Amino acid sequence: MDQLIWKSNFSIGIDEIDQQHKTLFMYLNKGMAGVIDPDGIFDNLKAYAGLHFSGEEKLMRKIGYPGLEGHQHQHRLFVERVEQLERAVIGGEKQAVSQLVSFLRDWFLEHILTEDKNYANYMRTKMNEDDIIFLVAYSYE
Ligand SMILES: [Fe+2]
Repeated sequence: MDQLIWKSNFSIGIDEIDQQHKTLFMYLNKGMAGVIDPDGIFDNLKAYAGLHFSGEEKLMRKIGYPGLEGHQHQHRLFVERVEQLERAVIGGEKQAVSQLVSFLRDWFLEHILTEDKNYANYMRTKMNEDDIIFLVAYSYE
């Protein structure tokens, strides 16, 4: 599969979060290139999700984002799906790695480019750029 190139419109406009999204993008590209390590990827993804999602949720709570519950639900589904695919790989289901790659691709396109942009836009209606930077740093400390 072809590699994806990061485009400026993939950014949600909050640097710290964009950097984290680029980490996921890197895993996705490794998967697309067929160089994903099936033994390490699941631990990496679970660690990524633990840190990244809890920070996002903390942030959404602080700004009183009305879509928090639905967004949290999507985060839970991500973790469940990753765990399910991990069990499949352990069980010897070889196609589970390519299912993981498709899942990450869909997640990137549907969750990050839609849902994450929504809360970032909401945030910008509530506070200025400096306050956003401060709040994001605080949410990930
Ligand atoms: Fe998110």
